[in-house]
Amino acid sequence: MDRLVIRGGKPLVGSVTVSGAKNAALPAMAAVLLTSEELMLENVPSLQDVATIERLLGFMGVESREAAPGTVGLTSRAVRRFEVPYDLVRTMRASVLVLGPLLARFGKARVSLPGGCAIGPRPINLHLAGLQAMGAEIDLVEGYVVAKASRLSGTRLLFDTITVTGTENLMMAATLAKGTTVLENAACEPEVEDLARLLQKMGARIEGAGTSTITIEGVEDLTGAPHRIIPDRIEAGTFAVAAAITQGDVLIQGCVPQHLDAVMTKLRDAGAGVAEEAGGVRVRMAARPRPVDITTEPFPGFATDMQAQIMVLMAIAEGKSVITETVFENRFMHIPELLRMGADIAVTGRSALVRGVPSLRGAPVMATDLRASASLVLAGLQARGETVVHRIYHLDRGYERLEAKLRSLGGDIYRVEG
Ligand code: EPU
Repeated sequence: MDRLVIRGGKPLVGSVTVSGAKNAALPAMAAVLLTSEELMLENVPSLQDVATIERLLGFMGVESREAAPGTVGLTSRAVRRFEVPYDLVRTMRASVLVLGPLLARFGKARVSLPGGCAIGPRPINLHLAGLQAMGAEIDLVEGYVVAKASRLSGTRLLFDTITVTGTENLMMAATLAKGTTVLENAACEPEVEDLARLLQKMGARIEGAGTSTITIEGVEDLTGAPHRIIPDRIEAGTFAVAAAITQGDVLIQGCVPQHLDAVMTKLRDAGAGVAEEAGGVRVRMAARPRPVDITTEPFPGFATDMQAQIMVLMAIAEGKSVITETVFENRFMHIPELLRMGADIAVTGRSALVRGVPSLRGAPVMATDLRASASLVLAGLQARGETVVHRIYHLDRGYERLEAKLRSLGGDIYRVEG
């Protein structure tokens, strides 16, 4: 298994370009199941999760071709299988995103029920309840969700918890349903809005995406379309923390500043200089951070996908901060690893009390999930001495060439294969 070797203490300086957003690319690719025509997606990041969904779509009969670097053409003319096996759902939970489109266009789907994962139980009950309310018959058979419907019907759905992929799944299902669907307490994430933009180009009638009420008027069929995936706000946020934690100066190019408001506000509160510049956002820091309290929330709040990274910054702050995780139950797996690097963090329930230390110390550490892995890399860039991050396949699921990009900014970070 590959590992990353990092020698910390070098300020990151220069400019870096963010890739397309993983969490926008995955639903966009699943949307190919809604039409028999070709979807042409640009700015698709080269990541393990993207390869996984391509494999899963291929298993169903979707043809894919690389029209240019980062541009993928997908066509689902002849769908052979309407099934997602356990092995695929286990490696990538976003596989459940095919459920809504399959049911809407073909009236059937068999998708393995996801179990627990490193960041909590992550059920899909809200996806299923929504599809049932639209008229689908759903059974659980041998660990699989078996869903059937003649044609889904529009209805009013109120989510009792905000769910990103749940909103996406039901929005896709509703595009081909009979009548109007209203999604209330919908996720407002930029990735939901990006998917809606793609669906609109395909002929869907959607209003309100990006707000908590989305209205979808079903149509008879959808067409192919070209679409450019939005930049990855979590990758951008990770580079912003990398600049701050190494007391560097980095221009993060190609990001959308409005998607980064919550993170940039906290970085400013911590003492970083944050400025919008042509083509991106520049983040600088010249001193130890000030402590700031942070609570994760759905968008536009502070993203749970940035919690582990900001915690590392707080781990070297001049004072105490409290970081509260409200979105997932068990997303503190990075803490025991950070303790091995000299951090002082105590967990009580959903909150972590972080007492800043002047510097972290290099150590061998183990990645447990994607964002936890990113936080360990950031810790390694700050730490004195050498850090070796093991199990970086988690990192490869969601960051495109992270170590190469960090190296281009002056980071001393290498991948050791095998
Ligand atoms: N939830 C339910 N029932 C459901 C669905 C969700 O109780 O049917 C709960 C979850 O257990 C969780 C909360 O609702 O406590 C929010 O989960 P959500 O459904 O929004 O998460 P997701 O859609 O599975 C997406 C991202 C995650 C990101 C979360 C939260 C994709 C492919 N994944 O997951 O990204 O953390 O939203 O913003 O979009 C990552 O990229 O590292 C990642 C984990």
